Amino acid sequence: MFDQLTPAPPDPILGLTEAFAEDPNPDKLNLTVGVYQDATGRTPILRCVKEAERRILDDEVSKSYLGIAGLAQYGEQVQQLLFGDRWAALHAASLQTPGGTGALRVSADFLRQRGARRVWCSKPTWVNHPKVFQAAGLEVETHAYLDGAGQGLDFAAMSQNLAEVPAGDVVCLHGCCHNPTGVDPTPGQWEELAQIAQRQGWLPLIDCAYQGFAKGLREDVAGPTCFLDAGLELMICSSFSHNFGLYNERVGALTIVAHTAESSAAALSHAKAAVRANYSNPPKHGAAIVSTVLSDEQLTDQWAEELGEMRDRIREMRQLFVASMKARLPEQDFSFINRQNGMFSFSGLTPVQVDQLRQQYAIYIVGSGRINVAGIRRETVDYLCDAIAEVCQ
Ligand code: LMR
Repeated sequence: MFDQLTPAPPDPILGLTEAFAEDPNPDKLNLTVGVYQDATGRTPILRCVKEAERRILDDEVSKSYLGIAGLAQYGEQVQQLLFGDRWAALHAASLQTPGGTGALRVSADFLRQRGARRVWCSKPTWVNHPKVFQAAGLEVETHAYLDGAGQGLDFAAMSQNLAEVPAGDVVCLHGCCHNPTGVDPTPGQWEELAQIAQRQGWLPLIDCAYQGFAKGLREDVAGPTCFLDAGLELMICSSFSHNFGLYNERVGALTIVAHTAESSAAALSHAKAAVRANYSNPPKHGAAIVSTVLSDEQLTDQWAEELGEMRDRIREMRQLFVASMKARLPEQDFSFINRQNGMFSFSGLTPVQVDQLRQQYAIYIVGSGRINVAGIRRETVDYLCDAIAEVCQ
């Protein structure tokens, strides 16, 4: 079985973190994986999370299995986060998953078993999307997304492509903070996407991994909400890695919105069967933290405040980066980076330039030119921008 094996290629994102860890250069910068870093370069544990953990430690009486769908209250809390006050009037069902990736895999297994064959992803999309969908046996197709300059959305091309997607296919959309580009549709464009989905009969599968990182918790789900307004079925994969800083606790959720209570209950039962055949039932700790925070008004307020601090810092770093690049390369316009949302920016750097940054400056960014803006600091921005200016000339 193993004698003839050659090594698999390293993961295009996580593999770079491994290479970074081994790089002896003291000036090295890791702007690869989408992990938030504060002004000192640490990935902090939120204060509300620490407090929730204290309470969990005091109150916990058993380590017995959770149900297949996870903690009892959790599904409702996830729906409140996604849909605000209207959650109770919807025919929605949620289950707790190991991270947003777990939710994507469960939805992919569910969809394949229900007879779906194809998923459409934006070009580009998160590099792991096609892998997760293909691992579940789905075919992956791409639709247009970025404009020719690589700086904004080519909505005309995107909507034209999606207007040709047949009924029964699935379209994977990014709820906000598109990964890897940071380029999101406007509210009006989301409404048009919902109309196209309604006309065509394709199913929206929304990857909601960065809720709260663009404009705010409610604002960032305005897009997915358009599909509800159109009365459509919908699947949403939430991740709490980023907005709760719970990266290594692997906590997320799959939410299915159906037309009736009976169909959402039936869909949940099939999603549970997919979970059981996959990892049986979810781990508790991360979801217990999220649930504890969301059950307590004060902790919820504190969370919103801490999330706001992360969002503001990222926005500040975008502005600093743009200003620093302008000072070095005034003839090049980097202002589009200020219009992007969330952690990532598609810099426009070529694979050769990305390689030069790594070889000559130990600056690690993803091969596509994606920069994790949340990894930029005041202390490092000059080193970064000097190096980028150098490789651009
Ligand atoms: C990223 O895109 O960097 C994050 O979603 C983390 C990951 O697992 O790739």
